[in-house]
Amino acid sequence: MSTPAGGTAVVTGGSSGIGAALALRLAAAGWDVVVSGRDRTRLAAVAAACGGTAVEADLARPDGVEAVRSAAEGRVRLLVHGAGLGWAGPVADTPPDAVSAMLAVNLDAPIRLTNALLPTLRDQDGHVVFVASVAAIGVAGEAVYSATKAGLRGFADAVRLESGVRVTTVLPGAVDTPYFARRGTPYHRRFPRPVSADRVAAAVVDSVGRDRAEVFVPRWLTLGARVHGAVPATFARLSRRFDPPAR
Ligand SMILES: NC(=O)c1ccc[n+]([C@@H]2O[C@H](COP(=O)([O-])OP(=O)(O)OC[C@H]3O[C@@H](n4cnc5c(N)ncnc54)[C@H](OP(=O)(O)O)[C@@H]3O)[C@@H](O)[C@H]2O)c1
Repeated sequence: MSTPAGGTAVVTGGSSGIGAALALRLAAAGWDVVVSGRDRTRLAAVAAACGGTAVEADLARPDGVEAVRSAAEGRVRLLVHGAGLGWAGPVADTPPDAVSAMLAVNLDAPIRLTNALLPTLRDQDGHVVFVASVAAIGVAGEAVYSATKAGLRGFADAVRLESGVRVTTVLPGAVDTPYFARRGTPYHRRFPRPVSADRVAAAVVDSVGRDRAEVFVPRWLTLGARVHGAVPATFARLSRRFDPPAR
C-alpha cells in the first residue's frame, strides 16, 4: 500500500541540504511540515518557505531528541530522519568527539525518535524515512560514518519487518550540499558525481508515494550494492582498485 500525501511530516536536518529541499517538496505535495535543526536562522527561512513550523533541537543531546519527540507526538504521519554529519580520514585518526557525534546524530537519535513515535505512526497509518548513505556498504576513509549508516539501514530493515509502519531507506551517493564543507574534507572522487539535494528530495517523495523499501540515488548505485551483497571480497578488490584508500 502506498502513503498518500497529507498530514504532518517531521523532517530532521530540515535546516540545510537534503532536508531543506525535501521540506519544500513535501509542502508542495500537501504535507504540513515541521522542520528541525540547530541553526535558528536557516531553520526559520526553510519553515517560512514551506509554510511550516521550526523546532530548534540539537540531536546530539537528550533534550534535543525530546524537543522533536514532543513536537511530533500525536500528529506525525511522515517521519524523516535527515539530520546527519560525517568525518573523513583514516579510521585510526578519527577524533573521539567525531565518533561520538556521528553515533549520536546519525544513529542513536533516529533510533530513539522512531521508538518513541511508533505508537503515533501506527495510529496515523504512517511512514518513516531514514536518510542513510551508499556508505552503508562500507567506504574507505569513512569507516565510522559507514558504520552509522549501515546501522541505520539495519534498524530500518528490522522496523519495516516488525512494526506495521511503512519504512523507506534512502541511500544517496555524493550530494551537492554543505555536508562536505562541514566535515572539513572536500569530495574528491571522480565518480559518482554529486547530484543535487532536490534530486534526492524528489526520490524520497516518489518512494514514499510508492512505499518503496529502499532507494539508491542515483539509481545505478544499486548495482554496487548488489555486487557488495553477492561477492563482498570482489567488491573490496574493485573498490581498492578504483578508489584507493587514503593512508
Ligand atoms: N551530502 C552527501 O553527499 C550525502 C550523501 C549521502 C547521505 N547523506 C546524508 O544526508 C543527510 C543530510 O545531509 P546533507 O547532505 O543535507 O548535509 P547538510 O547540508 O550538512 O545538512 C545536515 C543537516 O543535519 C543537521 N544536523 C547536523 N548535526 C546536527 C545535530 N547535532 N542536531 C540536529 N541536527 C543536526 C543540520 O542542522 P544544522 O545545520 O541546523 O545544525 C542540517 O540540517 C545526512 O544524514 C547525511 O549523512 C549526505
